[in-house]
Amino acid sequence: MSKVKESAKILLIDDDKLILKLMKTILLSYGFEVETVYNPMDAYAVAKAFKPNIITIDLMMPELSGWEICDILRRDSDLKKVPIIIVSAKNDNQDKEVAKYLFKVNDYITKPFEAEELVKRIQFSLMRKDSLQRQEKSFFETISVIGTLAEELKIKNEHLERQVRMREETIISVMKTLIRALDEKDPYTAGHSERVAEISLKIGKAMGLSLNELKKLERGAILHDIGKLIIDLSYISKPGPLTSEEFEIMASHAEVGARILEPLDFLDEEIMIVKRHHEAWDGSGYPEGVSGDEIGLLPSIVSVADVYDALTSDRSYRAAWSKEDTLKEIQSLKGRKFNPIIVDILFQIYS
Ligand SMILES: [Fe+2]
Repeated sequence: MSKVKESAKILLIDDDKLILKLMKTILLSYGFEVETVYNPMDAYAVAKAFKPNIITIDLMMPELSGWEICDILRRDSDLKKVPIIIVSAKNDNQDKEVAKYLFKVNDYITKPFEAEELVKRIQFSLMRKDSLQRQEKSFFETISVIGTLAEELKIKNEHLERQVRMREETIISVMKTLIRALDEKDPYTAGHSERVAEISLKIGKAMGLSLNELKKLERGAILHDIGKLIIDLSYISKPGPLTSEEFEIMASHAEVGARILEPLDFLDEEIMIVKRHHEAWDGSGYPEGVSGDEIGLLPSIVSVADVYDALTSDRSYRAAWSKEDTLKEIQSLKGRKFNPIIVDILFQIYS
């Protein structure tokens, strides 16, 4: 048997003074510190004061049985984890089960016992207690390390998320500047993209879109004509109607815009807005000719907002339309060019 700390304190509770004396003598000779109680009524008070590392208890005692003492000790916050060994003349299997499961008794020794047997059992219980305490300690240390790591990871993630958000915002801000420059090259379109974003947001809010959808709607609306950055502007600003060839080049701006943004995968919805803001509800739009709900809600909103702002603004080849005429024109295209629900919302907002 390996060595157990010599200073272990053992409390012996037995109404038989002779047994107590015998046990005490044996245990003292092994270097244990020993306290004895022969009146079971004193057991709890002595245990509280002595703070033993292990307690042995006789079962059959007057006034207070060994079971009752077990019950009292197991309810005490300081003593409930101290190993208990029952030392009894009764060799009853039922008693052993009760001891183990009801009172979490660690061992059961039957009188009469050999001195060596008593010491071995006591040493074993003490070692088990030490090992359990070590396991418990290392468990809590592990939990605490995991907690610290999780906290560090959370901070790192938040830092990364902030960096990603900053990168996204920088890209968007550069693009907004480019778009503003594009709009302002032509006095007739100055501020167009920002106004389309404003109108789109009004529609989106009236439709109860989420904050994230509104953010994407606003960005997509600002960026909707970004493709015009790389097509010849003289086609757009020239007075009078475009030739079919000129129109084809102009119409390519939706697809070209989507291709410019394609590498920026965080702009998924925005790219669809750019690509589909000239699609029509009946499928007669461009570039893909998709129709109805397939166009997607956000591109359909920007499509209405784009035309509303274009018609209510001066152009090189015509003066701005009145709000009433614009609404009338959009109404006439409801269900043909435009999503009917969005036209109704536009009317609620502007008429
Ligand atoms: Fe456009």
